[in-house]
Amino acid sequence: MDMAGKTDGFGVNTRLAHIGNDPRDFHGFVNPPVVHASTVLFPDARTMATRGQKYTYGTRGTPTTDALATAIDHLEGSAGTIVVPSGLAAVTVPLLGFVAAGDHVLITDSVYRPTRHFADTMLKRLGVEVEYYDPLVGAGLAALMKPNTRVVFTESPGSNTFEIQDIPAIAKAAHAGGAVVMMDNTWATPLYLRPLDHGVDISIHAATKYPAGHSDVLLGTVSANAACWPKLSEAFNTLGCCAGPDDVYQVLRGLRTMGVRLAHHQQSALDIARWLEGQNGVARVLHPALESFPGHALWKRDFSGASGIFSVVLAGGGEKQAHAFLDALQIFGLGYSWGGYESLAVPVFLGDRVIAKGPYEGPVMRLQIGLEDVKDLKADISRGLSAAAAA
Ligand SMILES: Cc1ncc(COP(=O)(O)O)c(C=O)c1O
Repeated sequence: MDMAGKTDGFGVNTRLAHIGNDPRDFHGFVNPPVVHASTVLFPDARTMATRGQKYTYGTRGTPTTDALATAIDHLEGSAGTIVVPSGLAAVTVPLLGFVAAGDHVLITDSVYRPTRHFADTMLKRLGVEVEYYDPLVGAGLAALMKPNTRVVFTESPGSNTFEIQDIPAIAKAAHAGGAVVMMDNTWATPLYLRPLDHGVDISIHAATKYPAGHSDVLLGTVSANAACWPKLSEAFNTLGCCAGPDDVYQVLRGLRTMGVRLAHHQQSALDIARWLEGQNGVARVLHPALESFPGHALWKRDFSGASGIFSVVLAGGGEKQAHAFLDALQIFGLGYSWGGYESLAVPVFLGDRVIAKGPYEGPVMRLQIGLEDVKDLKADISRGLSAAAAA
């Protein structure tokens, strides 16, 4: 049965099990080879002169990177995908590819912090005008567009505070002004949101998170529609920002189980978020799938699921209470990143925000809900809440 190219009518877990590579291309082995490559040989001078074969050099793709890129194209509905060494590179490569000195970019204020750092340092140094906008701006983005606005950068839900953006309205306003719309879609993965179906031109993922799934690999993917693919591909080839084959393979491996892992993350996180809403010491829970969350209706309209990361706002207190909460946790690790099998907690810093900075009633804690048993995780969070109350 040839599943590799014909999976469109199937359910998501069936597709995840079969997209990307065709086992018949490599003697029937289920998985593709991990091709370690710089040099690719040409059979003769003419083929070399015309680059007349599929693979020409390691930086430009291998059967391993092609398998992952093809799988992501299936999931995103994109014309082409590049695979880069980190999620941050998946942000910086398309931005570098699409802007030039004198251009203006609009970036959501609840963007992943290192994206802001890149924009505020390197983009500005290259002569790009960087402006942050309210993640809830919606169609109001039209008023912020300038004749030189080249890129509108979105991330929904927003990092740490989970604001849901009205992506179709933003995309419409951006396109009316001639800008390209990029979206960091890491939270939803292509299983819970396909940005290109909602007007986005370029979908960005830290594959480090759910696709890799085990806190041991860094990788990024960037997927473009047909109009933007040539420019994205050109930027990738120009920058030489290619990923290592073992990491690419690990992410393809992770994709096979991403559907079942995500379903578990989703269920546990929502259970814990609902429970947290009723706990003493909690002011509110920032989780888009909660009916109480301000962006809930938009989330329901556009997304088909929620992943396993959200934030909880403590009812008052400051750094002392935040540290007491974090230090009392025994299962939740204190560490950055998310999407792995284990639970993590981090204090949220909003000091660099210019618009989407609250107010919040107390410290904001981001929780990544792993694959552990919910009862154990609730007991751990209870320990944290008690410690915060006693601090
Ligand atoms: C929303 C978002 N985008 C991008 C990244 C960057 O990914 P990486 O850690 O692979 O550089 C992260 C990492 O935490 C993230 O949360």
